[in-house]
Amino acid sequence: MTPDVAEQAVIGRIRAAAKYRGVHADTIADIVRQESGKAANATDLERRARLKLHRVVAGYLLTGRITRLVRDLAGAAESDAARRELCRAVLAAHFSTAERLPDLDRFYPALFGAIGPVRSVADLACALNPFTVPWLRDVTDAEYAGYDLNLAYVEPGRAFLADRYPGCSVAHHDVLVGPDAITADVALLLKTYHNIEDRQPGAGLRLVTELGSPVVVVSFPVRTMTGRPAPFSWRLLAGLTGFAASRGWQADRLELPTELVVVVRKASVAVQASSVRPGDAAEEAGADGAAG
Ligand SMILES: C[S@@+](CC[C@H](N)C(=O)[O-])C[C@H]1O[C@@H](n2cnc3c(N)ncnc32)[C@H](O)[C@@H]1O
Repeated sequence: MTPDVAEQAVIGRIRAAAKYRGVHADTIADIVRQESGKAANATDLERRARLKLHRVVAGYLLTGRITRLVRDLAGAAESDAARRELCRAVLAAHFSTAERLPDLDRFYPALFGAIGPVRSVADLACALNPFTVPWLRDVTDAEYAGYDLNLAYVEPGRAFLADRYPGCSVAHHDVLVGPDAITADVALLLKTYHNIEDRQPGAGLRLVTELGSPVVVVSFPVRTMTGRPAPFSWRLLAGLTGFAASRGWQADRLELPTELVVVVRKASVAVQASSVRPGDAAEEAGADGAAG
């Protein structure tokens, strides 16, 4: 078998596995090709690719609980308070968004207080973060587009936004494929940079560089899923800010208790006009400690 034929056979077998049904075909193909150079033979290639893929999706596989919560949301009373309570329950079902819940009321005010007005937001590797759109709407009317490689997240987020939030969407997409086509005024890459670096060393910096967005917000977890401190976050943060400095980009830290956030402004592309609601973001960020 030639290497190409072996790769195609492995890609086909993995795509057919029920476990990876929701994983984007581009992700599977990319991982198989990345592992191809290191594998001794076709069997070794499949073993390596499955291991890598397991790390990409492990810990993020959804339970029936989310499906039930999303169904409740669809039939929920249309009071803002009731909707937010159900959204909080959905957000609590995933580690990353659960960890953000104590900061949720000040998260977007702090972020947009630092960034300023924007017309569009791309939420890369969003998982369940589309369920924070009610809070995003407190500070901006910007269009929102979420992206995730795992259909298990895309479908509930899409169903939630379609009913109530015009101009908001979620796409099934691997953001490492063609990132220059993502041209929102600001791209959020929240608590996923380290996963992307784990999948492919150097891919995090490449993604920030190649994205068509002039402002990229990157965040890192303060703790691992086991509750231990995450020293790798500081190392990756230092690498990113050092890289930004070498390119002449501005990189500002935001102080939030549950994640390390850096706002990278790439000099070469300008942010356009805006729809931040007057007064909201800047005032609240001042009160909540956005730092430069
Ligand atoms: C740690 S979670 C972060 C979720 C979210 N950004 C947050 O902070 O709440 C990682 C998510 O990123 C998605 N993901 C990882 N790499 C991706 C890629 N290259 N393209 C699109 N989604 C990706 C995974 O499917 C998973 O849903």
